[in-house]
Amino acid sequence: MLRRLHADQPKSFAFTAANLAWAKGQITKYPEGRQASAVIPLLWRAQEQEGWVSQPAIEAVANMLGMAEIRVLEVASFYFMFQLKPVGAIAHVQVCGTTSCMICGAEDLIGICREVIADKPHEISPDGNFSWEEVECLGACANAPMAQIGKDYYEDLTADSFREILAGFARGDVPRPGSQTGRFSCEPQGGVTTLKDFTGEEYNGSVGIAVSLGDTVKRIQGDEVPVLIRPKPKPKKAAPEPAAAPSDDDKPALLSAPRDGGADDLKKISGVGPKLEKELNNAGVFHFDQIASWTAKEVAWADENLVSFKGRITRDNWVSQAKSLAKQ
Ligand code: FES
Repeated sequence: MLRRLHADQPKSFAFTAANLAWAKGQITKYPEGRQASAVIPLLWRAQEQEGWVSQPAIEAVANMLGMAEIRVLEVASFYFMFQLKPVGAIAHVQVCGTTSCMICGAEDLIGICREVIADKPHEISPDGNFSWEEVECLGACANAPMAQIGKDYYEDLTADSFREILAGFARGDVPRPGSQTGRFSCEPQGGVTTLKDFTGEEYNGSVGIAVSLGDTVKRIQGDEVPVLIRPKPKPKKAAPEPAAAPSDDDKPALLSAPRDGGADDLKKISGVGPKLEKELNNAGVFHFDQIASWTAKEVAWADENLVSFKGRITRDNWVSQAKSLAKQ
């Protein structure tokens, strides 16, 4: 796409006092002679303040950094994150159209942008409030399809939820960012399977901050008080009492030798190899029906005393495997 300065430019640009102080602070991060390194943060702050990067903003940044204006324009026109045209007064909507999002419905979201904002990307809606564009992967592929609106990600979108979010912004609401299907972050759709002991906060970090700020599409004046307080963690559930160690009363019935007809091939149980089969036979387990009859306590005892790989009996579900094999 051809990226050039917009035909209609404002007469001037000035950082707010607070943004100016912030920008000067950024410049001090770099050694003498390397002030140009601050070009991206300064352009970004100019965009956060105005919504887009105008020619006067480019000139102001160049002045502050002692750079040729063309060098700053090169940066602003190279990176697509810089908007070189005015955007919607409420929000500029960036819909990810890359693989995961496309497979999961990005085209529907883009259709809604065309319908409710403007037919073409970077065009402003008739009421002046919204603009949109399709962007490359925004790194939230596990929660596809998604869109960035203002600073925040809206994920696990459907055509209906996306339409409602845009309507919410138009009404002046602040729709909650993050997953729209109730996922905390990017855990599996069916719920977490590991690391279950998370803090129990209502929202993940970025969503929590957005919710407590109460405005996800604000233009940044620089004097906002950063709101870093997350919603109060929910009380953690008390950890379950550790199970009592199995005693010898829980020992399952063991045999001194296989019954007539010989031992079953225990290796048919998924997870049992020749080594484990030998260990089981040495301990007095030869038949599927023996394992099939184990109670939970007997499984715990066997786990503790019979085999060398703890946890396998439950993990590989030996009892139900043995039940099916015993019937054959
Ligand atoms: S493909 Fe859409 S966020 Fe990665």
